[in-house]
Amino acid sequence: MKRILSGIQPTGSINLGTYLGSVKNFVKLQDKMPDYEFFIFIADLHAITIHKDKQFLRKKIKELAALYVACGLDPEKVNLFIQSEVPAHSQMQYILQCNAYMGELERMTQFKDKAKKQEKGVTVGLFSYPTLMAADILIYDPDYVPVGKDQKQHLELTRDIANRVNNKYNDIFTVPEPLIAEIGAKIQSLTDPTMKMSKSDPNDKSRIDMLDPENIIKKRIKSAMTDSIGTIKYDPENRPGISNLLTIYSVITNMSFKDIEKKYEGIGYKDFKEDLGEIVYQELKPIQERFNNLINSEELDDILDKGRDRANQVASIKVNKLMDRVGLGRKRR
Ligand code: AMP
Ligand code: TRP
Repeated sequence: MKRILSGIQPTGSINLGTYLGSVKNFVKLQDKMPDYEFFIFIADLHAITIHKDKQFLRKKIKELAALYVACGLDPEKVNLFIQSEVPAHSQMQYILQCNAYMGELERMTQFKDKAKKQEKGVTVGLFSYPTLMAADILIYDPDYVPVGKDQKQHLELTRDIANRVNNKYNDIFTVPEPLIAEIGAKIQSLTDPTMKMSKSDPNDKSRIDMLDPENIIKKRIKSAMTDSIGTIKYDPENRPGISNLLTIYSVITNMSFKDIEKKYEGIGYKDFKEDLGEIVYQELKPIQERFNNLINSEELDDILDKGRDRANQVASIKVNKLMDRVGLGRKRR
């Protein structure tokens, strides 16, 4: 059976950017591609490349799991699991590290950005992060990996490593294709629309978190940065603020930019933003309700147990196979 795989780090609250750029896309794919087996996970090992408080991390892992399900991932269709509960990811990473070069990791823009922000020194984990991501992916031989635009470079590196290992060890990996959604792949910050909406932005006003209450959601949209032109028109080069709001509108309602522009001809930002605030709120409200029912439920643990068991089944076969090809240990019987 063909496979699709993706993951998200449990590093902060999930925001509208992650949801529209990634989780909503997973939900669409699970319904559109019933012939594929889905693996969606919580990348908790990735979260500790930068130090996290223990209690905070535990809480965020659980929250992300509940949000995945609340956003519509169906545990009958998707294997949902926590990365660190599948030890093969770390085992595989080590072997891949021995097939990756310092130079190529040094070129990763995400590493360069994050390294700059570290005051207490940059960990080896942050540097080798893309090899863990390659391991996450290659273990499961997925055909497609849906991600936001910012992960494209990591996917390219994963493909390079896969090809290199395939040449050395006789075609052991499927070389995966990224699946980047046409619109919504990058939702920008509400206060600086030239930057992505990010959970690590110190300014809370720059984003909407999935669990924000109605008044905050509406306030954030209302105060989102636009420009002084005043017309509702999609023009990301020259008018990134209003274009970002149009993107949010379009991804949620499935309306084209043209149709939205037509609908708001002669109407100003204030009314447009009021409508958009309501649209975002109506999208998030049912998700928040499901989240609250799930977060402390046994059901959530059962889902994660089931996902972990299936992931371990696939992953341990793959890592043993690779160890055999590399010549590690004794030949498995
Ligand atoms: P992260 O939240 O950084 O772990 O990213 C999880 C997934 O969401 C990745 O596939 C990202 O590309 C995507 N993502 C994160 N932030 C945004 C954003 N502002 N717009 C669109 N996609 C995003
Ligand atoms: N690095 C990704 C991010 O920061 C999360 C991630 C980890 C991932 N492993 C993955 C995404 C494997 C897709 C596939 O967003």
